[in-house]
Amino acid sequence: MLSKSQAKWFLILATVGFSFVFLFLTFDTIRQVDARTNADALTEEVEGGREIWDQNNCMGCHTILGEGAYYAPELTKVVDRRGEVWIRTFLRDPEAMFPGRRKMIDYDFTEDEITDVIAFLAWIGEIDTNDWPPEPNLAVPDSGGDAAAALANAPAMVGDVCQACHSVGGVGGNVGPALDGVADRFSADELDTWLADPTAVKPGTAMPNLQLDDVTRAELVEWLLSLD
Ligand code: HEC
Ligand code: HEC
Repeated sequence: MLSKSQAKWFLILATVGFSFVFLFLTFDTIRQVDARTNADALTEEVEGGREIWDQNNCMGCHTILGEGAYYAPELTKVVDRRGEVWIRTFLRDPEAMFPGRRKMIDYDFTEDEITDVIAFLAWIGEIDTNDWPPEPNLAVPDSGGDAAAALANAPAMVGDVCQACHSVGGVGGNVGPALDGVADRFSADELDTWLADPTAVKPGTAMPNLQLDDVTRAELVEWLLSLD
């Protein structure tokens, strides 16, 4: 048991001691802010994106760096996770990317505004957060396929957009089926019709109409047919 005066001194010393620890940690954090946030990479585009972010209250639904709401996906590392092309395609028309279950607002952003938003999100993603949040475990089944070989001749669109939802050789997302062996399941015509407008083939499908032009579609079909 501490005597009364021992308890008093314990209280005083602990309070003073931990106040110093607290002040030191605060100082240490402030000292590192510029380096950890890449303050020198704050371009006009990043600031423009931040204004758009604030004005539209994106945080009313999304979280970045632990701040915000949990209605919609966490966006700290979204540029890493989705890539620029995917985000641009999505922001042009969020409903098209998630047919029938759109919850994200279509803001009618101009291309420049989208560039700013992506610059802002990319800057956020570069902040040194001690690797938080951790990479999601997508639990894509290993198809036993050879991802490098399958992707060697893939059009850019595949890595930029398709793999967000589909895996190839065990690499990619798990929203849609793995694309390995897709050539055994569909003909060139079927694949082309599917890519042109998935909902026309299968109403209610979660595969988006990506507004692919004829050339891109032909390239994709040719590549898909190599996956047998
Ligand atoms: C009303 C709520 C809401 C607001 C406000 C909102 N979003 Fe979203 N957002 C969503 C939802 C829900 C999704 C998930 C996709 C879907 O269901 O449409 C999403 C998805 C996204 C994604 C893709 C995330 C991923 O990993 O798939 C990005 C990027 C994004 N939003 C950016 C923004 C930006 C930038 C703003 C502000 C300009 C914003 N959002 C405002 C609801 C919202
Ligand atoms: C937002 C997620 C998403 C994106 C992006 C996406 N897909 Fe899909 N895809 C799906 C889903 C979900 C299905 C399953 C559809 C169903 O059965 O309703 C599917 C089905 C398919 C199928 C039929 C596969 C089978 O075995 O049944 C092909 C082929 C395909 N997608 C190709 C592509 C290509 C090529 C791209 C890129 C240009 C792409 N997808 C982008 C979600 C996506």
